Amino acid sequence: MKNTLTDNYGRVIKSLRISITKKCNLNCIYCHQEGESLSQSHEMSPETIAKIVTAATEFGVDKVKFSGGEPLMREDFEKIIAGMPDLRNISATTNGVLLSRRAAALASSGLDRVNISLPSTNKEHYGAITGSPDMLPRVIEGINAAIDAGLTPVKLNMVLLKGINNSEIDDAIKFIAGYDGNVILQLIELMNFRDISRFMVDIDGVEKMLEGRATRVNEREMHRRKKYFIDGVEVELVRPIDNSRFCSNCNRLRVTSGGKLKPCLMRNDNLIEVKEDSSQEEIKERLMEAVRIREPYYRE
Ligand code: 5AD
Repeated sequence: MKNTLTDNYGRVIKSLRISITKKCNLNCIYCHQEGESLSQSHEMSPETIAKIVTAATEFGVDKVKFSGGEPLMREDFEKIIAGMPDLRNISATTNGVLLSRRAAALASSGLDRVNISLPSTNKEHYGAITGSPDMLPRVIEGINAAIDAGLTPVKLNMVLLKGINNSEIDDAIKFIAGYDGNVILQLIELMNFRDISRFMVDIDGVEKMLEGRATRVNEREMHRRKKYFIDGVEVELVRPIDNSRFCSNCNRLRVTSGGKLKPCLMRNDNLIEVKEDSSQEEIKERLMEAVRIREPYYRE
């Protein structure tokens, strides 16, 4: 049997979340920048990314999610995907702005799915959140192209922001209902990384509303996320804050765009560097080290 990457809390790492750039073409008020500082750093080459993922697969990691910044800011994203070893699932989190022209090529390079950040379908609100009202039609084209390319189910990430989009959950459900089950709504509790606490919504209230409207409720093992079925649309609620179950079910390890292993989104004081010219064995050692120092951020 393969060795696994199991931390001191019994959590087994099954997935990597890899940032491939800090660059982004939007400027979202809520953005946590993957918990990285914005200071310039070099970006990992496709070869380094492939080496890290391949080393991780030797420990049974079978899932990779690419993020940024905005991953499509990298012209070589298709190449990065094509360089992946055999995995159960390869996905990306994108803002969708540049997706329509590349969805098909990404799919044929081996991308399985996308999450698309869509905090609002209202142009004015989309603009207030992202700084770019005119990009909304492009994002919608991106969603359509992703479905055509089979990057499904497409998950639409909607970070809830009080006073901006918290009254738009119904609009989002209506928008998604038109996509015949190819699109899932992911409602996400705002994590307060900068001074944005004024936008925090009452997430218990949202949960009650969803419970009241759902015809069926399931719970996902991953992070114990609840899934609601409302008007034929699957709605997931992601509640990371003060949620010890969120942390106790965390099975992912992050990789920064500059090539550091990041055991926790919420911390920057425990990064483990992977040198570009490391051997596979050295990378495996760094992975074990990063997992050894993992600890839940929120605990019982
Ligand atoms: N709180 C919660 N989720 C966030 N994301 C980014 N910033 C935050 C935050 N402050 C998540 C969203 C977005 C993806 C890129 O990262 O899901 O769609």
